[in-house]
Amino acid sequence: MWWPHSTYKKTIDTLMKREVIITNDGSSSLSVTNWGENFHSIHGALQESTHVYINNGLALVEKEEISVLEFGFGTGLNALLSFEFAQKNNKKLHYEAIEAYPLTKDEYLSLNFDAFIKSNISVNDIHDCEWNQLKTWNNMHTLLKHSILIEDFVSNKQFDIVYFDVFGYDYQPELWSKAILEKAYQLLKSEGIFVTYACKGVVNRTLKELGFTVHKVAGPPGKREMIFAVK
Ligand SMILES: C[S@@+](CC[C@H](N)C(=O)[O-])C[C@H]1O[C@@H](n2cnc3c(N)ncnc32)[C@H](O)[C@@H]1O
Repeated sequence: MWWPHSTYKKTIDTLMKREVIITNDGSSSLSVTNWGENFHSIHGALQESTHVYINNGLALVEKEEISVLEFGFGTGLNALLSFEFAQKNNKKLHYEAIEAYPLTKDEYLSLNFDAFIKSNISVNDIHDCEWNQLKTWNNMHTLLKHSILIEDFVSNKQFDIVYFDVFGYDYQPELWSKAILEKAYQLLKSEGIFVTYACKGVVNRTLKELGFTVHKVAGPPGKREMIFAVK
């Protein structure tokens, strides 16, 4: 069924019941209890995000100044790990993220990422800053969080890397459609990287149809494979 996006947003807002959980590596995450879906792998949020988005994503961008666009900001774990990586490796990082259903203050105050991530940007820093306004740290690290549906997001910028971190195909197939994946393609620079935890055949095929060169690599614990693709 097709809904106008405003109706769809209201409907999904009411339908998602979230709860903070601790995953098997000790790091926190959120569970959508009534969907049976989690924001991260139950085997470990921190180890999954590090494996997928840092080791098989950001670390492969051979540039001193890197721009990231994340689909699904959620807990902000990928942003925190990316800023930590940028600080350790002395890279300039511009990070943009799209999110339609931001965490509440109670939710983000319950996240324990600061205990694991060695960076001078904290969970509070990235959640307390305003939506749709650029936040800058030390002239080196910037964050712009877009409060909007992925379906409605437009930008005239192009990025070095896209983190595609939406809920699984079984829960939100519309976000894995050709139209949305094409949006990611258009938002990447030539030779830009698209990285996701997923490795579903249909996603793989759609990315190839769009013109990506698709690589399947070993997934994080609990997942055989994941995809990174190059424009
Ligand atoms: C798998 S979770 C995000 C994980 C996140 N990267 C993290 O590290 O916490 C997917 C995110 O996409 C958001 N989301 C779901 N549907 C969306 C939509 N249509 N537009 C924008 N955000 C959406 C959810 O609210 C959720 O935060």
